[in-house]
Amino acid sequence: MLTMEKLIAFCRSRGFIYSGSEIYGGLANTWDYGPLGVEIKNSIKQAWWKFFVHEDKNSVGMDGGILMNPNVWVASGHVAGFSDPLMDCKSCKTRQRADNLISNSKQGKEIDPDAMSVEELEKFILDNKLVCPNCGKIDWTNIRQFNLMFKTSRSAVADVENTVYLRPETAQSQFVNFQNLQRTSRLKLPFGVGQIGKAFRNEITPGNFIFRTVEFEQMEYQLFCKEQESMDFYNEYKQKANEFYTKRLGIKQENIRFENHENLAHYAKAAVDAEYLYPFGWGEIGGTHHRGTFDLGNHQRDSKKSMEYQPEGAEKFVPTVIESSHGCDRIFLATLLDAYNEEEVSPGDTRVVLKLKPNLAPYTVAVLPLQKKNLTEKSEEVWSNLSKHFSVTYDETGSIGKRYRRQDEIGTPICLTVDYQTLEDNTVTLRDRDTMEQIRVKIDDLFTKIASII
Ligand code: GAP
Repeated sequence: MLTMEKLIAFCRSRGFIYSGSEIYGGLANTWDYGPLGVEIKNSIKQAWWKFFVHEDKNSVGMDGGILMNPNVWVASGHVAGFSDPLMDCKSCKTRQRADNLISNSKQGKEIDPDAMSVEELEKFILDNKLVCPNCGKIDWTNIRQFNLMFKTSRSAVADVENTVYLRPETAQSQFVNFQNLQRTSRLKLPFGVGQIGKAFRNEITPGNFIFRTVEFEQMEYQLFCKEQESMDFYNEYKQKANEFYTKRLGIKQENIRFENHENLAHYAKAAVDAEYLYPFGWGEIGGTHHRGTFDLGNHQRDSKKSMEYQPEGAEKFVPTVIESSHGCDRIFLATLLDAYNEEEVSPGDTRVVLKLKPNLAPYTVAVLPLQKKNLTEKSEEVWSNLSKHFSVTYDETGSIGKRYRRQDEIGTPICLTVDYQTLEDNTVTLRDRDTMEQIRVKIDDLFTKIASII
């Protein structure tokens, strides 16, 4: 069985993901993507952009800043409401989320802590004598609401420091730019705006690798529409999210489920989470949210700038928003887990193979000269020509069998071998990652053949 520990070790050793600031002992809940990880992550982002933005004629994209005017976060409700209820253990000095303490306890199995007030959470923890998961003692402080936004300061004028926040979601750029986006793109409702970028949350709970980190990437799409058609779009975008995960990323349908929110975020009128079956249980990878007119309405109120849309020959109104939000890092994790296979090739001989969709694999082709002697020049020529069209790696160290296995492990769909016959008839072999079958192909036909495979 693939455990998180095994996957983390695999990711570290092959160059998918490293611990953040490793040589200084790391920094909790931070990770760095290595050479193979960044290729897959970029491909996931490209697939998302193509599906949500390019393949929809009523969609455009944007790339907003991480720092925004702090009033944005007052209007959005994040300054007042984006917090976790935390308690400190006075004995071991660790900080714990009160809601997690309850839901992880035997007594709290049937309880929904999200529906409880701070007083109710405190009473439940004390009445049921819930112990600190770190040291086993019961010595709690009162609960304090801890805002998840990272603060930094900006001093535009000497000696005056102003608080600014690192954005906790990318969505607000699409909202505050609504008029710019609509006017400059001359789009009529309904239309949508996609954006991919970093978001930051001061998460204190252990992260399960890249599942919960303090810095992560979101892929968020906001559809602006009329209120009357909003529930149809809400259902459509829930289906679209499923199609993206299963058809575009190749995640198995049985590992995806949709769960309606019982307790809605401060901005939402309806919301559904898409969840993936991770080794630690079901966990959210994305969500479809009916945000109503909450964000545009609040920005109109606080900025005193109109957020209304003027249809031809009808009254102006503030559009309703349907949001399709996806966590790139969580999707990366789900994609990798779903693609990871250990296969018995022959009795006693097992291979690891990442059955990634070819367009998501870090390399499409691996060029492998059968031997270094006499074949390097021809192999480098093949590599150079193909690398203009595809992501191609080159490997001439070790036996050909070991090199095939190395490429299987990192998901390379095609291994191309240059051998002595190549020098005679200008053909090479192509080996398929999943079936391990080999075919002989003319070098002149390589582009067409590889393009048809991927
Ligand atoms: N704009 C709506 C929004 O931000 P969210 O459910 O809070 O909604 C959207 O976040 C997605 O971002 C989640 O579904 C998840 O995939 C990802 N995400 C949220 N917090 C995260 C964290 N701490 N680490 C990694 N991904 C996270």
